[in-house]
Amino acid sequence: MRTRDTLFVQDGRLKIGGCDAGELARRYGTPLYVMDEAYIRRMCRSFTEAFKQESLAGGVIFASKAFSCLAMYHIVAGEGLGADLGSGGELYTAHKAGFPMEKVFFHGSNKTPAELRMALDFGVGHIVVDSLSELQLLCAICAEMNKRAHILLRMNPGIEAETHAYIRTASTDSKFGMAFDGEGMEALRLAIREESVVLDGLHCHIGSQIFDMEAFLRATEIMSDMFVRVRETFGLSLGILDLGGGFGIRYVDGDCPTEPSECVRVIGAHLRKVFAARGLSTPALILEPGRSIVGEAGVTLYTVGVVKDIPGVRRYVSIDGGMGDNPRYALYKARYETVVVDRADEKPAGPITLAGKCCESGDLIGVDMPLQEARRGDVVAVFSTGAYNYSMASNYNRNPRPAVVLVRGGESAVMVERESFDDLCARDRIPEWLK
Ligand SMILES: Cc1ncc(COP(=O)(O)O)c(C=O)c1O
Repeated sequence: MRTRDTLFVQDGRLKIGGCDAGELARRYGTPLYVMDEAYIRRMCRSFTEAFKQESLAGGVIFASKAFSCLAMYHIVAGEGLGADLGSGGELYTAHKAGFPMEKVFFHGSNKTPAELRMALDFGVGHIVVDSLSELQLLCAICAEMNKRAHILLRMNPGIEAETHAYIRTASTDSKFGMAFDGEGMEALRLAIREESVVLDGLHCHIGSQIFDMEAFLRATEIMSDMFVRVRETFGLSLGILDLGGGFGIRYVDGDCPTEPSECVRVIGAHLRKVFAARGLSTPALILEPGRSIVGEAGVTLYTVGVVKDIPGVRRYVSIDGGMGDNPRYALYKARYETVVVDRADEKPAGPITLAGKCCESGDLIGVDMPLQEARRGDVVAVFSTGAYNYSMASNYNRNPRPAVVLVRGGESAVMVERESFDDLCARDRIPEWLK
């Protein structure tokens, strides 16, 4: 566990945002997502202040697929960030939270006509168009609604970023974005010709949980070559380069993330250099961090149930949550750290496998994790669960989704209520002929 001023162990007890983790578990129940507001704000500021310091045009938009709820949009708006929204549900939530829609970039590899209409109705700042087919659809919808959309085109720079294949998004073989030569060129031609859209720039996103800054620099170079080709072919100087998100965070020892401010500084300097070398003025830079803003802000609390030893094989510690609230092990073999919250200073008793309660053998939070001697009733904390946990949660096995609690300076408040069993049945209907 990486400690900080708002996450540390005192007298053996885990403290987060000035609150005692064990008390949070007793008060709100488990499983429980706990989000540290001060950390979220610090990460937002690390990005935004670096933009100011480096005098970079553009800005930071929070990739809300990492964590989306009404309160989060209040925090993000308060910190002056824009938002990357990737579905009708995220659009609806941000709009309902009163988020400034002109600061929204609307994403998605297969936006539906209804989602595009919603985005235009809400007046989003930019639509990031993922394919030629989507551009044709958007133009038709704009014409029908008598609207003009500002757009970016998502290009695929063909980079094999060093991360899990499922979160690598810019290989040549990818469902995201357009190859510049071919589909991309056709989309550029159409976007420039069409009255109903205004082409402001290009976008790419190379993947997620990336530590190697070189990958971002390489993407900057490939994208700048595309800007050159656009100017040579169409005589158009594009004003925005959106490089997406993907900055890695610390899950376990050995993960070495780069500070957000340093990411901005390094990318900003390279952007200036490569564009100047190509005789182009520096475009406004947009970055779309998600995980790096909320990931390490989150801790999930669980209560231990069954502890099962298979001599010479493995010790399973079973918790009252699992892949329903955190599917990342099942998806990517993600790794985490964990402690018993009121004996966090004790030496780990040996490696255990933290198992969920769902009917899947792959329902694990992690294997071979060091953990203090855990007994039924203990509360354990799993760290760095602020991103792609709540937002990826499901009701598998009809388990209600946990509550999300925000902590700051010793206060705690619910951001998302725990689902009840009634919630689970609220939308069920029994066809007449079954009654
Ligand atoms: C287009 C786009 N932008 C930004 C992000 C955020 O990535 P991360 O949370 O790794 O910063 C994603 C994640 O999938 C994405 O698809």
